[in-house]
Amino acid sequence: MSNDLSQRPRRLRANPAIRNLVSETQIRAEQLILPLFIREGLAEPKPITGLPGVVQHTETSLRAEIDRALEAGIGGVMVFGIPNHRDVMGSEALNPNGVLSKAIRDIRAQVGDRLVVIADLCLDEFTSHGHCGVLGSPDLHGNCEVDNDATLEIYGQMAVVLAEAGAHMLGTSGMMDGQVAATRRALDAAGHEDVSILAYAAKYASAFYGPFREAVESQLDGDRKTYQQDPRNTRESLREIKLDAAEGADIIMVKPALSYLDVIYQASQIVDLPIASYVVSGEMAMIEAAAAQGLINREPAILEALASVHRAGANIICTYWAIEVAGWLK
Ligand code: PBG
Repeated sequence: MSNDLSQRPRRLRANPAIRNLVSETQIRAEQLILPLFIREGLAEPKPITGLPGVVQHTETSLRAEIDRALEAGIGGVMVFGIPNHRDVMGSEALNPNGVLSKAIRDIRAQVGDRLVVIADLCLDEFTSHGHCGVLGSPDLHGNCEVDNDATLEIYGQMAVVLAEAGAHMLGTSGMMDGQVAATRRALDAAGHEDVSILAYAAKYASAFYGPFREAVESQLDGDRKTYQQDPRNTRESLREIKLDAAEGADIIMVKPALSYLDVIYQASQIVDLPIASYVVSGEMAMIEAAAAQGLINREPAILEALASVHRAGANIICTYWAIEVAGWLK
């Protein structure tokens, strides 16, 4: 074994100034996206179990949260709407005065172009069965599968409704085949060439979506394994990412983040589009729960988790901690 100590990496770790000088990644407030839940007909903001500080918003509390987002200087908001009324077709998703469209319109009126306003383009909050699309006819056993192409028709219509409400960007999160192409085509046909697509290209059927299901009062009984990806695979993600890029995605998203850093890294290597990742509800809940028990130190743990996502290759990070972290970065 060599004991040549002419190489001493510790020299570059000697004090904070040197460490900052050689730091390779930096999380920036302008690249953080805050997911927001707005619940129709709610009288008071309603907390979500396991996600401290995250609530279902009323119109009033949403307005205040947007003010905080502006003040913090974050990059954008990703809006999810929870309607009063659900049906098998998710028809409230197409209501121009429905909860999501209305929230998008209100937020745009409040922020103009100071924040990127992203609308979730998916049916799961609107369907009575909780799936991300509409169901086809029952098979021999009476089971219904999500009908990909019928769902694309509705996504196209929903895209136009959300663009008309003022969304800068649409998050295609349903994991239907061809959804980016269908969304792009519908937007362009309606004159919305300027609305961009944040493509959830690689979205896994993850157990880490647990607290989100409460946040959107998900009606899902079962799972999404016939459309979301198998956590055991990466090559499948690379295929999905290339397809979405070819279909016209503007930004590629990998979701969840912390268990999929390898996928983020590979995504960043194979396409020349910006890469985003979503630190999902269960990933947040794990850190919050451990910190609440005194097992880990909360602030450095959060910064370390976000740094890992950035280091892997996603500069754009969706996180429920966006406003708080932006405050720390100031
Ligand atoms: C579905 C959707 C989900 C999340 C965002 N959009 C849940 C799912 O696919 O079941 C999860 C986000 C989170 O857990 O924070 N449109």
